[in-house]
Amino acid sequence: MGFENLLLERDGAVGVLTINRPQVLNALNTPTIDELRRAVLDLKHDAGVRAVIVTGAGEKAFVAGADINELAVQRPVEGKEHALRGQHVFDLIENMGKPVIAAINGYALGGGCELAMACTLRVAADTARLGQPEVNLGIIPGYAGTQRLARLVGKGVALDLLLSGRQVTAAEALQVGLVNRVVPAAELMSESKRLASELAAKPPVAVRYIIEAVNRGLEVSFDKAQFLEATLFGLVASTDDMREGTAAFLEKRKADFKGR
Ligand code: COA
Repeated sequence: MGFENLLLERDGAVGVLTINRPQVLNALNTPTIDELRRAVLDLKHDAGVRAVIVTGAGEKAFVAGADINELAVQRPVEGKEHALRGQHVFDLIENMGKPVIAAINGYALGGGCELAMACTLRVAADTARLGQPEVNLGIIPGYAGTQRLARLVGKGVALDLLLSGRQVTAAEALQVGLVNRVVPAAELMSESKRLASELAAKPPVAVRYIIEAVNRGLEVSFDKAQFLEATLFGLVASTDDMREGTAAFLEKRKADFKGR
């Protein structure tokens, strides 16, 4: 089934998902969020996909936020449902069990910054601008921006960005830990694909459990998080890839992971 507001392509083991509403700087309206949910579930359940890139169509924007036309008319009960729907989809991205790389090709504001933060890693073009400008609209972030930003960059920087609503450059985003890498704009997709292919070649069960241990571990006590880690550490010993990885090291050769 096709999408109206998304493009979904495959490049080997890498799925490339493009938010495709360039006329409104890829703003996320409800149909786009619903399509995103479907696309994310497709990617999650497709065993041939080992890593995913999320980006925005056009030169200017990754995603310039939730669609302000919808926000302008929403009422309280709808507003809550709107936030819950977006939070749910972004949770699916965060917990897809495969590395999801946000290739931030321009403005990543509001819901766009929240989408990028739900991804596993963020690569920004040097021309990108990030921020949570909701306060300037008289609202607050509703797709978990208040939570993921504080977890990513710490409470002090998060409150600065959330309260000022200011845009930060890619360089500042890198400095505060909001993005992982900054590359020249012309190299954004090639670098993101190189990184995605590198991660796609890693043993997928170990990759999935690392993401799970970090995501879930941060939300529970240290003691419980360590117990989760120990359990996943044990589980990963059931994989052929664990035997291959350790044998390859001892035999001084490159590991050939099969994804089992
Ligand atoms: N929702 C709906 N439409 C949006 C949008 C959004 N979040 N962001 C941009 N657009 C639309 C604009 O209304 C404009 O439409 P038009 O051509 O019909 O006038 C089009 O996209 C291009 O945007 P424009 O504002 O003309 O581009 P710009 O280069 O002057 O400014 C931004 C770029 C990103 C700084 C500016 O668009 C902006 O501030 N967007 C809103 C960001 C925001 O507050 N996001 C959080 C929402 S919760």
